Amino acid sequence: MMKKIFKVGMLVGALLPCWGAGEVQALPAPGVTGGMPLMEAIVKRQSARDFDAGRAIDDQTLSEILWVAWGINARGKRTIPTSRGLQNMQLFVLTPDGTWEYDGPGHKLVKVNDKNLIPLCEKQDFVKTAPLHLVYACKDDRGGECHVGSAYQNVYLYCASRGLSAVVRAMIDKDALNREISLPENHSVIVHQCIGWPVK
Ligand SMILES: Cc1cc2nc3c(=O)[nH]c(=O)nc-3n(C[C@H](O)[C@H](O)[C@H](O)COP(=O)(O)O)c2cc1C
Repeated sequence: MMKKIFKVGMLVGALLPCWGAGEVQALPAPGVTGGMPLMEAIVKRQSARDFDAGRAIDDQTLSEILWVAWGINARGKRTIPTSRGLQNMQLFVLTPDGTWEYDGPGHKLVKVNDKNLIPLCEKQDFVKTAPLHLVYACKDDRGGECHVGSAYQNVYLYCASRGLSAVVRAMIDKDALNREISLPENHSVIVHQCIGWPVK
């Protein structure tokens, strides 16, 4: 089902069946070997705003994007450090059918609502062409924003390695997103990151 959702992207999402909050979608195991050498990926990292609206992000790539951002590695650690190990960050995937939270330990997505919140991130036109929308939230103290930065940088490097376009963005309606996504107390949305294949 997840595959379907991200294949059709935002164009025909409304045609898909509606899932309720709490719906769980398993993800394929991330491929955790290979890829571009780290130094090359750092050389290639950039913000890119051109997205092929007709080319979806497949489930395997989605799985790996979420895992590099906020998954659990072979040492049983998060892929990013957090202050005092608080792990006080949330990662959401926005789709036309609803908002999904990434559960790192379970490596799965859990639906938190049936709302299409992508328009709340569309202050810049190019956002409408991106097939994948991530939203990062955190607790407002104890390094929360640093944790978000670590996570989106991991995604930037993964995207550089895979030849994907990505840009992190603060130009979003944070108040509305905070209202629409039920976050734990003192947590708030920090940035959006849109991802897709570049236009050839
Ligand atoms: C916290 C943060 C917020 C940003 N917000 C936006 C944004 O709202 N829109 C946008 O197009 N780019 C945004 N960017 C991307 C920057 O414009 C970009 O990183 C900068 O121009 C440097 O380009 P580079 O990432 O290719 O090195 C943001 C970057 C960061 C780190």
